[in-house]
Amino acid sequence: MSHIVIQGGRRLEGALAVQGAKNSVLPILAATILHPGRSVLLGCPHLSDVEASIRILRHLGCKAGWEGEALTVDASSLDRWDIPDHLMREMRSSVVFLGAILARMGWAELSHPGGCELGPRPIDLHLSALRQLGALMREESGCMRCSAQHMAGREIVLSMPSVGATENAILAACGAQGETILVNAAREPEITDLQNFLCGMGCQVRGAGSSTVCIQGRRPTHDSTYAVMPDRIVAATYLSAVAAAGGEVELHRVSHRHLSTVTAALHAAGCQISGGEGQVVLCSTGQLHSVGTIRTAPYPGFPTDAQAILMAALLRAKGATVFVENIFENRYRHVDELCRMGADISVADRVAVVTGVPALFGAKVRCTDLRGGAALMVAGLAAGGETLIDDIFHIQRGYEDPVRDLRALGAEIRLE
Ligand code: UD1
Repeated sequence: MSHIVIQGGRRLEGALAVQGAKNSVLPILAATILHPGRSVLLGCPHLSDVEASIRILRHLGCKAGWEGEALTVDASSLDRWDIPDHLMREMRSSVVFLGAILARMGWAELSHPGGCELGPRPIDLHLSALRQLGALMREESGCMRCSAQHMAGREIVLSMPSVGATENAILAACGAQGETILVNAAREPEITDLQNFLCGMGCQVRGAGSSTVCIQGRRPTHDSTYAVMPDRIVAATYLSAVAAAGGEVELHRVSHRHLSTVTAALHAAGCQISGGEGQVVLCSTGQLHSVGTIRTAPYPGFPTDAQAILMAALLRAKGATVFVENIFENRYRHVDELCRMGADISVADRVAVVTGVPALFGAKVRCTDLRGGAALMVAGLAAGGETLIDDIFHIQRGYEDPVRDLRALGAEIRLE
């Protein structure tokens, strides 16, 4: 089993282009099956979760694979509506295929998705939205059998702006008769990216990015080529790494606007930040100070996916920073690992208090989940001595090649 080894304490400096967004490309890959033709995705990151999506697409009968840097899906030969349990378990996002399969085939059979590392992750909102569109569902020995021969558009109010439920409802509504109005939809930029992809192949979706999304049931009409948006959490990771270790980084292929809550926190901690079109520059002395309270919230609030990462950046900051995790029940599993490196963090329920320590030291640590793993890299870069990170398959789910990227900034980091 490979691991990442970091010799920390080095100043980081350089420029990086940010990879395409995982949370955007996974629902877009599910959306490709709506169109019985070809979709070409540019800027799609090479990730294990993307490979898992490709396995699902191939199982369904699609042709899917890399052609150079482009990922191409031809869904004209799609002839199945089931996803076997072992493919469902590979990642949480497999559930977004449900809405897409129903829209294209009118039937779907699958089990519950994997990815429970952040506490319970129910899919009741997904299922409720699909039922309201007319899907009939029954569950038999862990397998959900859904039929949706006559889905009809209507107003659907989500009780919580769930990202995945919003995506599933949009995909299913593309295959329903008439108009669906989704109220209290999630406003994450990745939903806008999904809308843009769908519109590019002839679907009619508008309003993404606001809390009301309108979908006219309509089959896609043509093949398309689409460039996936940049990954704002990967960008947040590299900004946090340089903030913690000290140095200067110029990120390209990023949206400054999508990162505003993260850059505001890093600015409050003492970093200098500037940005232009598609670019963010961060400069840090490595001597940060605490930033009061960070509360995670649905977009445009502070992203739960950046909570562990910012926490890692502030472990040596002067004073105490309070984190309140409002999205997931159990998203502090990285804390014990950070404490092995000398961090001072106390957790009570959804609140974590980080008291800055003068120095961190390298240690042998283990990734507990994707962003928790990224946090260990950030802490390792700021720590004195050697950090050895195990179970890096979590990191590989969302980061294309962090060793390459951090080396480009001058980090002493290697894969063993
Ligand atoms: C997506 C992101 C994930 C991010 C999260 C929140 C992808 C592939 N993943 O996950 O990286 O951390 O948004 O920004 O885009 N909930 C329910 N019932 C449901 C669905 C959700 O109670 O049916 C709850 C969840 O338990 C959680 C909250 O709603 O407490 C938010 O979850 P949701 O927005 O759905 O996150 P995901 O789509 O799973």
